[in-house]
Amino acid sequence: MSNNLVIVANRLPVDRVAQADGTPGWRVSPGGLVTAIEPVMRANDGVWIGWPGGTETDLQPFEHDGMSLVPMTMTQEDIQGFYEGFSNGTLWPLYHDLVAKPEFHREWWDSYVAVNHRFAEKAAELAAEGATVWVHDYQLQLVPQMLRELRPDLRIGFYLHIPFPPAELFQQLPWRRQLLEGLLGADLVGFQLPGAAQNFVRLVRQRVGHKTHRDLVYLPDGRTVQAAAFPISIDAAGFEELARSESVGKRATEIREALGNPRKVFLGIDRLDYTKGIYARLRAFSELIADGHLDVEDAVFVQVAVPSREQVEQYRILRDDIDRLVGRINGDLGRIGRPAISYLHSSYPREEMAALYRMADILAVTPYRDGMNLVAKEYVACKYDNEGALVLSEFAGAADELRQAWLVNPYDINGMKSAMLEAYQADEREITRRMKAMRKTVTQNDVAAWADSFMSELSDVPSSHGKAVRP
Ligand code: G6P
Repeated sequence: MSNNLVIVANRLPVDRVAQADGTPGWRVSPGGLVTAIEPVMRANDGVWIGWPGGTETDLQPFEHDGMSLVPMTMTQEDIQGFYEGFSNGTLWPLYHDLVAKPEFHREWWDSYVAVNHRFAEKAAELAAEGATVWVHDYQLQLVPQMLRELRPDLRIGFYLHIPFPPAELFQQLPWRRQLLEGLLGADLVGFQLPGAAQNFVRLVRQRVGHKTHRDLVYLPDGRTVQAAAFPISIDAAGFEELARSESVGKRATEIREALGNPRKVFLGIDRLDYTKGIYARLRAFSELIADGHLDVEDAVFVQVAVPSREQVEQYRILRDDIDRLVGRINGDLGRIGRPAISYLHSSYPREEMAALYRMADILAVTPYRDGMNLVAKEYVACKYDNEGALVLSEFAGAADELRQAWLVNPYDINGMKSAMLEAYQADEREITRRMKAMRKTVTQNDVAAWADSFMSELSDVPSSHGKAVRP
């Protein structure tokens, strides 16, 4: 029990991979969260608790790249009830504006409570006296309260990476009060956007009956909880460096050649998720071709769909829908060696992503609802020559910062068509002007600044008992 900082997230920051000799090993996940948290972990003797995926049972704590990692095990029942069920069948669609219909099942809730409890117990066991614990995301909203009951000496922060819905939607949850009380176990509850923090404070006032003032909640025991926005970002310098590298430059040229050197390349990169608006976006593009505004000799759409949550029914349905749509569009509009859409159902390492960003002329990010969307920021970070247009949904958190993108309402197909065409036809000066402004925003607010601001706000919370951990 010597850790002054404990990170608790559903996922560990590493993935299982097969090593050269065939034995299983670990590789740091491509996400930016590790990059942000690693320096804070090192400086504070930190440990990261999370699930490595799968149902392996004999996993021991281990070190990877100088990080202390503690794997949590899950049974098949946990995966079905806690992960696929309550986290991704109930909370995910509800928090994303009901893009799909959430299901409410009492057994899923019971599993969510049990798994959250196991994470809380593990954090309680590992945290040093007065340590700081930082809990992440919608899968673990009960952990702050459970942990406070076990260890009142701790300073607890919670960060929600996805949207927090308006009261009108949240209210549907049969367990709404328990979830709010779970979050109130933290000293600081962080969200992507100010509106989400306001939704939370309003719900706490209405549903739990606590007194609130601006971003503070006053609990009957004298403790205060602060709710505030900390828009997450990326390792901007790291992405730019990668994009500038010779190998990525070579790969970018190779990709364009393989596509037949069209005049302009549209790009979409998303987890294959129904919140991302992939279907409507591809339809919009195909209509631009069918209407004669674009020609497959001049333009192609490269869509990367990263496999995700494949056991959840809604995700299977989506995959089939997209497969069929891409087949139909290419069948109707493609020519020999010139498909309208180049579709890839796969995940790629950071180097390949940087090459895709570098070679693309227009990135289309059109989710119906998204907490932030880091793909949009990664693209901007990679466009060091200020060339490249961004078509961005108003309903992605990133739209609050990337105001110079071509902003679209993803429900309005004609509006998306116009924006995509405008971005396609824009002259270089216009593109450069917009990209320059967006680059300034992304490079000045990187993921290290995000982690610093959350940690320093957390260490300033007056009511907490735990010692401050300085970023
Ligand atoms: C979103 C969530 C994360 C989650 C990730 C991948 O970004 O905010 O908490 O880890 O999706 O989803 P998965 O279900 O594979 O962990």
